Amino acid sequence: MKTGHPTTSDAMDPARGRRLDIGHFGLRDADIPPHDAGAWDPRGLFPSPSHPLEIEIGSGKGTFLCQQATIQTDRNFLGIEWTADFWRSAADRLRRNKLEHVRILLTDASELFRHRLADGIAQVVHIYFSDPWPKGRHHKRRVVQDDTLTHFHRVLAPGGELRLVTDHAELWQWYERHATANAALFERHPFVPPPSARPGEFVGTNYERKFTREGRTFNAMTLVRRQVAPVQRLHSSPPIWKSFSRHPDPPPI
Ligand SMILES: C[S@@+](CC[C@H](N)C(=O)[O-])C[C@H]1O[C@@H](n2cnc3c(N)ncnc32)[C@H](O)[C@@H]1O
Repeated sequence: MKTGHPTTSDAMDPARGRRLDIGHFGLRDADIPPHDAGAWDPRGLFPSPSHPLEIEIGSGKGTFLCQQATIQTDRNFLGIEWTADFWRSAADRLRRNKLEHVRILLTDASELFRHRLADGIAQVVHIYFSDPWPKGRHHKRRVVQDDTLTHFHRVLAPGGELRLVTDHAELWQWYERHATANAALFERHPFVPPPSARPGEFVGTNYERKFTREGRTFNAMTLVRRQVAPVQRLHSSPPIWKSFSRHPDPPPI
């Protein structure tokens, strides 16, 4: 896939003035089986494919993945990030930390869930500080939609969890409305911080720490997959992949 961004060899970390190296930790669409190969089970990427899989949507520079995977070595983690510069920084960081049970994929997570991921493969889907897209005409760009919720339900294993944290009041109302509308698929539970969170943190992502310094408050929930048959199937038509050099401008934060 053409990203329009520098290749690995010429990508620099401007903050540290050194080259970034994604090693085998950063994956592109071209690194995963083609769409016509059928549903994709990413557990085969990892040295221990039988370990439970957790997926993070919108990993940014990979802070949660690094923190959590350092503690939970008996799990596999797949981050999904569609901004090439963040993806590259995260992959470089995973490589430097030798986190062989973690990979990060440069793609649109919503499309990956709709068109590629196999049923019942993930124990947890994490979505932390997702872009709020505050304008009404941009709401369709939000990751949580009725449609994506049916795919999260399909891709989660029985008892699996969707974990949501946001600072954005209107996005939180959106989450609450969607949780209520999809109560047949998910049971709502309080959010319990992961082991890697510091005292007082919900998760401890980059954005959480930045927003905490700004005095923002947060809301969170866990949606536990109900034991009902998936209402959704993997979409059989190929996705219309976005160009990641031209994805929508980031929303104001
Ligand atoms: C506000 S940042 C939060 C990053 C990180 N979760 C944190 O809390 O620090 C949201 C991230 O989600 C990514 N993102 C938004 N929509 C996405 C999508 N559909 N697929 C993959 N990544 C997405 C953005 O590029 C951005 O890095």
